[in-house]
Parts: sequence; C-alpha cells; structure tokens
Amino acid sequence: MDALVLIEDACPTAPQWSAVQLAGDLESERARLIVLEEGGRVEGFAALLVVPPGAEITSIVIRRESQGRGLGRALLAHVMEEARSLGCGRLSLEVSASNAAALALYASAGFKAVGRRPKYYDDGADAVLMDLDLAP
Ligand SMILES: CC(C)(COP(=O)(O)OP(=O)(O)OC[C@H]1O[C@@H](n2cnc3c(N)ncnc32)[C@H](O)[C@@H]1OP(=O)(O)O)[C@@H](O)C(=O)NCCC(=O)NCCS
Repeated sequence: MDALVLIEDACPTAPQWSAVQLAGDLESERARLIVLEEGGRVEGFAALLVVPPGAEITSIVIRRESQGRGLGRALLAHVMEEARSLGCGRLSLEVSASNAAALALYASAGFKAVGRRPKYYDDGADAVLMDLDLAP
C-alpha cells in the first residue's frame, strides 16, 4: 500500500487516494485493485469500482520514471479484461482535459468522450467523462 501511495504522490495528475482509502478497496466487494509488478517492483496500479452492469476506473497510474514504455497500455488492457470477466458491459472513467497522455491512451483503447464537467479540477481544467463498450 505504501508503494502505491508513493507512486501516486509522485504523479500530480493521478488521483491522490490515501493508503486508508486504497486499503478500503481491498475490503470492498465492489472494488478491485490491480497491481502491475515488474522484476519484483511495483510499477503501477489501477483501481476499479464494479457497479453492474458497468465498472468505473477510479485510478490508473504508472511509476513516474517508468512512464512512456507501454506499461500503462498493458495495465489498461488488463483492467478491461478484468471488467469483462466480472460481466461488465461498459467501462467508464473521468480524466482531466489537460491530461494529454491519459486522454491519448484512453482514446487509442477505444474510449469515447460522452460528457464534460466544466472547471471540475482545482487547476480549473474540465473533467472529460469517457466510456468504453466492452461488449464482444
Ligand atoms: C497516463 C499513464 C497511466 C499512461 O501510462 P504510460 O505507461 O506512460 O503509457 P504507455 O507508455 O503505455 O503509452 C500508451 C499511450 O499513452 C499515450 N501517451 C503516453 N505518454 C504520453 C505523452 N507523454 N504524451 C502524449 N501521449 C502519451 C500514447 O497514446 C501512448 O501510445 P503510443 O505509445 O502508441 O503513442 C501515465 O502517464 C501516468 O501514470 N500518468 C500519471 C497518472 C495519471 O495521470 N493517470 C490518469 C488519471 S485519469
């Protein structure tokens, strides 16, 4: 849990959940924490909230120094697979309109923008709501 929080802390665009909140995910029937490890080191994680018939990605973050080498894409593919295996037909998320890397990742995975919350974030950026149809 400490490793996950340290990874988050180093990424200003990541949602800043506390260790207690993340630990709550382990207790909850509806939540999944998916941790990506490489060579025994935690490289990133994603948090998924399962609300049938869909699921929401509440966080996805890759260790800062490991970004840009395909790990985020691999982690997202795993999250999509997990949601499918749980019977979810739709995956949704919310991302800052100023987060170019995340927007590009989601768009290339097939997510479509379905809404916008103006000036949602502290820095004044809009939130973009995105959905992915998981139906085969
Ligand atoms: C968003 C994030 C998870 C992507 O993970 P990553 O491992 O860096 O991404 P990948 O190397 O797998 O790249 C996947 C795609 O993301 C996009 N991308 C990644 N870095 C990018 C950058 N700096 N600028 C623009 N697009 C970028 C590209 O579309 C890329 O595909 P390509 O390599 O075919 O061009 C990662 O940058 C991160 O942890 N950011 C901080 C936390 C965060 O903002 N999370 C999202 C909150 S909604």
